[in-house]
Amino acid sequence: MAETNLSREQLVAKLNDDLSREYQAVIAYTVYSQVLKGAAYMAIAKELEVHAGEELAHALTIAKHIDYLGGMPTATPKSVVLSDDAETMLRADLGNELDTIREYRDRLRQCEALGEFAIAEDIREILRQEQEHLIDLATALGEDTPDPGKAPAGRTKKQTAKRR
Ligand SMILES: [Fe+2]
Ligand SMILES: [Fe+2]
Repeated sequence: MAETNLSREQLVAKLNDDLSREYQAVIAYTVYSQVLKGAAYMAIAKELEVHAGEELAHALTIAKHIDYLGGMPTATPKSVVLSDDAETMLRADLGNELDTIREYRDRLRQCEALGEFAIAEDIREILRQEQEHLIDLATALGEDTPDPGKAPAGRTKKQTAKRR
């Protein structure tokens, strides 16, 4: 678990990292939703379009709180994997969502430790949507939803079943 006792400046830096990850998600879902081809992926392509809009809403919320805390919201996304292979795209998204969920779980505790309950409340709602994104991606890949608390990204269904 990450450190809980942050200064406000450190929280701003962490939130800017979260914002870079939200931009990454907006870009990835925008591109992948249009590039995914084939009958097997039609439903998930539509779903990814919905995700793109939700990620933009997350970015706006995080940027608002960075500004409120006296910081300057970053303009730089984390890098996006480009591929025309459906599974590569879905796995990239799945890995990013796992990272995002882990980070927001830490951020929730850090915000609460600082008494920033309104930010924590918004992050809780974002977290709920990120977990839905994770489930959508795992379902499209035909796998169990990985546990952000422990699972490394990309584990197969067979391996997951064995562990239970
Ligand atoms: Fe998001
Ligand atoms: Fe997401």
